[in-house]
Amino acid sequence: MVKIFRLKNIISIKDFEREDVEYILEEASKLEDIAKSREISDELKGKILGLMFFEPSTRTRISFETAMKRLDGQCIGFTSSGSSSVSKGESIADTAKMFEGYSDALVIRHELEGVSKFISDIVNVPVINAGDGAGQHPTQTLLDLYTIKNEVGSIDNLRIALIGDLKFGRTVHSLSQALGLFENVKIYLVSPPELRMPQEVLIDLNKTNVEYEEVTSIENIIDDIDVLYVTRIQKERFGDIDDYLKIKGAYIINKKMLEGKDVIVMHPLPRIDEIDTDVDNTEFNKYFTQAANAVPVRMAILKTLIKNNPK
Ligand code: CP
Repeated sequence: MVKIFRLKNIISIKDFEREDVEYILEEASKLEDIAKSREISDELKGKILGLMFFEPSTRTRISFETAMKRLDGQCIGFTSSGSSSVSKGESIADTAKMFEGYSDALVIRHELEGVSKFISDIVNVPVINAGDGAGQHPTQTLLDLYTIKNEVGSIDNLRIALIGDLKFGRTVHSLSQALGLFENVKIYLVSPPELRMPQEVLIDLNKTNVEYEEVTSIENIIDDIDVLYVTRIQKERFGDIDDYLKIKGAYIINKKMLEGKDVIVMHPLPRIDEIDTDVDNTEFNKYFTQAANAVPVRMAILKTLIKNNPK
């Protein structure tokens, strides 16, 4: 049976069925040669992608731009609220309507949860959530799953530890919800008590076959896992800087802890100090591969959404 991708917008990973995830991963696999050999395919020739980044980004914005250019499309947009007319008081709704008129799909990053959904309700072009506050980061999850599938061999039967800021970390919210689509997955949730996984994500996990366990230390679980997924304690999400300083540096992964273990280390990046740079030149490091995988995965997303929804 020919697989189809059902979604017009990518707002939350919770909108995905397993078949939708598999569709994007298979498309990404087909596009990987073009991405790696740095060639251009003309799949999106003449199309324009609108990048509305109200919040800072390196990987997400640049990899979407690279992905669009590898498909022979072009990009327009802004990289902060300050460089758009939002800084003069223009509403997000009016800004989005302008981009609808100029582009074939929109990629939105905003510090507030729900902004991408709001925009998807008022424009007719596909909308992609590139991170909304502490909410969701669904395209990061797709490239995380792609990396796990390539490096571990399968997402079913995975043993994974999510470490760090599970409270505010949108990547771990989306990833754990996505793992609920797969079979026999165990997730260890490793965080300081102040940064535990939100209750609403645990409620979602309870509706799936995923087994999860909340723990505070890595030592007892490291022999039981395939993937250590490390996240940054996000200073910008704390109202009180003292609360941040109390738990900053709670978990630091280094080469010595990993030696002799059959595990890979992933991180959505940016990293501050939670993975020592002595891990960078080891076989455990898959975080740079993960970041590079953003290009074929986002090529697959753009190709699928823009071709399925011509203006
Ligand atoms: N992983 C990620 O979202 O990185 P950026 O914030 O640099 O886009």
